[in-house]
Amino acid sequence: MLEKRTLAIETVGKVGETVTVFGWVHARRDMGKLVFFDVRDMSGRLQVVGVPGELDTDESRTALQSIRTEFVVELTGLVQARGAKQINLDQPTGTVELLAKSLRILSESKTPPFEIDNEERQAGEELRLKYRYLDLRHERMAKNLKLRHNILKSMREFFYKDGFIEVETPILTKGTPEGSREYMVPSRLHTGNFYVLPQSPQQFKQLLMVAGVEKYVQVARCFRDEDQRGDRQPEFTQFDYEMSFVSEEDIMQLTESALIKMVQEVAPEKHIMQIPFPRITFAESMAKYGNDKPDIRENKNDPNELAFVWVTDMPLFEMGEEEQRLVSAHHPFTMPKDEDRHMLETTPGNARAMAYDVALNGFEIGGGSIRIHERDLQNQIFRILGQSDAQIEAKFGHMLEAFEYGPPPHGGCALGVDRLAAIIANEPNIREVIAFPKTGDARDPMMGAPSPAEDKALAEANIKVSKK
Ligand code: AMO
Repeated sequence: MLEKRTLAIETVGKVGETVTVFGWVHARRDMGKLVFFDVRDMSGRLQVVGVPGELDTDESRTALQSIRTEFVVELTGLVQARGAKQINLDQPTGTVELLAKSLRILSESKTPPFEIDNEERQAGEELRLKYRYLDLRHERMAKNLKLRHNILKSMREFFYKDGFIEVETPILTKGTPEGSREYMVPSRLHTGNFYVLPQSPQQFKQLLMVAGVEKYVQVARCFRDEDQRGDRQPEFTQFDYEMSFVSEEDIMQLTESALIKMVQEVAPEKHIMQIPFPRITFAESMAKYGNDKPDIRENKNDPNELAFVWVTDMPLFEMGEEEQRLVSAHHPFTMPKDEDRHMLETTPGNARAMAYDVALNGFEIGGGSIRIHERDLQNQIFRILGQSDAQIEAKFGHMLEAFEYGPPPHGGCALGVDRLAAIIANEPNIREVIAFPKTGDARDPMMGAPSPAEDKALAEANIKVSKK
């Protein structure tokens, strides 16, 4: 069946040929005996003219009368050039149409809960997510998925070419200190114990440096149980990398080159405001813009302007939101600036870190740091963070032990793929560039997650639920 298939987009070069297309019926219009509709497939849409007299059999004629939007059809027809007045240059197939000769319905569709041929977001978030497989049929959403794919492809190719190897790290693991609340998974075999889903692969990528990998990259799923916003999801994707024997400058330049190449490849219509990316220190950014992810665009209404900016000299610590004590501004493995090390004993709150963020059009799209590879300094940082020796041992004993076996100096960065894709797609919310995202209150209305567990499953996991 597929051998003889022609994609909608391929018909442009086949005027005068008889072809067979497969796809979904899109926007049917009846004009008396004539039926116009589009067939939509992964490549785009093709206009079809259905004239009963041109069809081969009664079955085809019955099919022409029966088809409704979103029916799946197999259609054979003659590719014709459109008349000058009918040419539509907004559509890639706008110069041709298919005169139907034979039509077969492969599957029927109920009337969808919202219109697929209407690109307005006419349905509410809940309905769009409940019927995400229909929402993704929208041309805009299909484009977003492809754009995201192209971004990842370009970034991966850049890093692979530079000798990075992609290593997958565990999802069932132990707490990671990125500062958010964590998702826990009960252990069946170890009663009362829990795995924690990673907020990022931070510890694993550092341990891979101890392992001698030197250049690691991963498209990594991360999990953070925090309040949702337009630019936050409970699970999201990082383009994550780490290198040994590098400086802040090396990592920033690598990141910048990868981003520039990616934009040129996937969105050549976009203009990068300044290359090399401008740099501003954290202190300057706070003073000038009142935040650490400045939007430096001159004209914020231009959808094709991309203003990347590095924010450097990030503080090592900040005041905790819940308790008035120092917490890591980035994470506790971040190296202090050499010239600020002396402050650790006296005024640690003033010390700056070898850490950098990259912002794009007012959003933080990435960040990283040079890491501590000396055990004594790492211990000192943990103590400043108020951790007792016992707590340090329980939470990070494995890292400190690893650092006793020849850890190389190393550093890295992670880019927020969802935010990057949303900005390039001109979307206001990262949900628009995630195939199956969660609602604002962290539900998946399509799958019905989260959902209650059966008593048997709870018993096996040794869990008792205290009902509120
Ligand atoms: P950080 O916590 O800054 O660094 O995360 C890196 C980037 O991930 C994106 N991001 C998110 N995107 C969507 N939803 C979320 N809930 C969310 N949280 C973060 C942001 C952010 O800049 N391990 C370190 C990186 C490193 O040091 O190498 C880390 O995770 O764009």
